[in-house]
Amino acid sequence: MALLEVDDVVVQFGGVTAVDHATFAIEPGQITGLIGPNGAGKTTCFNVITGLQKPTAGHVRLDGRDITSLPVHRRAKRGMARTFQRLEAFGSLSVRDNVRVALDIHRGVKGLVRRAGADIDAVLERVGIAMYADDPADSIPTGAARLLELARCLAGDPQLLLLDEPSSGLDESETDAFGDLLKDLTSEGKAILMVEHDMDLVMAVCDDIHVLDFGKVIASGKPAEVRANPLVQKAYLGYSDEDEVDDVEATRTDLLPVEDPLTEEIPAIREEVVR
Ligand SMILES: Nc1ncnc2c1ncn2[C@@H]1O[C@H](COP(=O)(O)OP(=O)(O)OP(=O)(O)O)[C@@H](O)[C@H]1O
Ligand SMILES: [Mg+2]
Repeated sequence: MALLEVDDVVVQFGGVTAVDHATFAIEPGQITGLIGPNGAGKTTCFNVITGLQKPTAGHVRLDGRDITSLPVHRRAKRGMARTFQRLEAFGSLSVRDNVRVALDIHRGVKGLVRRAGADIDAVLERVGIAMYADDPADSIPTGAARLLELARCLAGDPQLLLLDEPSSGLDESETDAFGDLLKDLTSEGKAILMVEHDMDLVMAVCDDIHVLDFGKVIASGKPAEVRANPLVQKAYLGYSDEDEVDDVEATRTDLLPVEDPLTEEIPAIREEVVR
């Protein structure tokens, strides 16, 4: 049986349909990718799964039980943890204390007594940020801050981990190490749902991939199947096998991810002001 089922979920924000009858499942011990263009509804799906967003219609089931109306903390108690697309750490607290807070909250939720700090250092070691343990969270590099988010999740020993663009800010070797860590976590039986724009990482580590476009699941399958799907190629990967592409790898990376046009405009606007 699937660990998590998203069943015919719809989310409407006024006239915008952010999620449009999306159905997909997540298996234990697997990494599932949720990919799609900017604004496709990926983060909104995460919000529905974790309880931050009430769906307009549809259901979410964990271990076969309907959790659609369950509050966030009760989902956390059942072993769900997530990272955010925008970093959410306590900037003035040290990296170690950020994980300590997460651990204390989790133990409070579970009604457990606080134990020694060794658990915290083990988590920092595992994600590879032990060298920043005493530094304020807002002073560490973005990639390390993303790993801190992961460490905060792992402090609660979740069975389902939802990661929203976890590799942004990581360089190539850090991304490789991160992929290995994810595989290691699933070998312990954890399930991971990952929203990610780095297609090399997605294709290398995911067991299954679901593709969203305008809120709809347009494809689901193994990485090779998804990559070969013409609908996905058109909607997201930016090419089609029918387009006589000589260098598919180059074309694919060229088109991912799309930069925010506003960010690109800022230097031009700044130049205008200086003039
Ligand atoms: N709180 C909100 N109120 C109104 N519209 C929203 C809200 N949150 C998201 N949307 C809209 O819903 C759609 C899906 O947004 P969402 O953030 O889920 O996309 P995404 O796939 O995560 O995109 P990205 O890759 O850019 O992170 C977009 O059109 C977005 O503008
Ligand atoms: Mg998003």
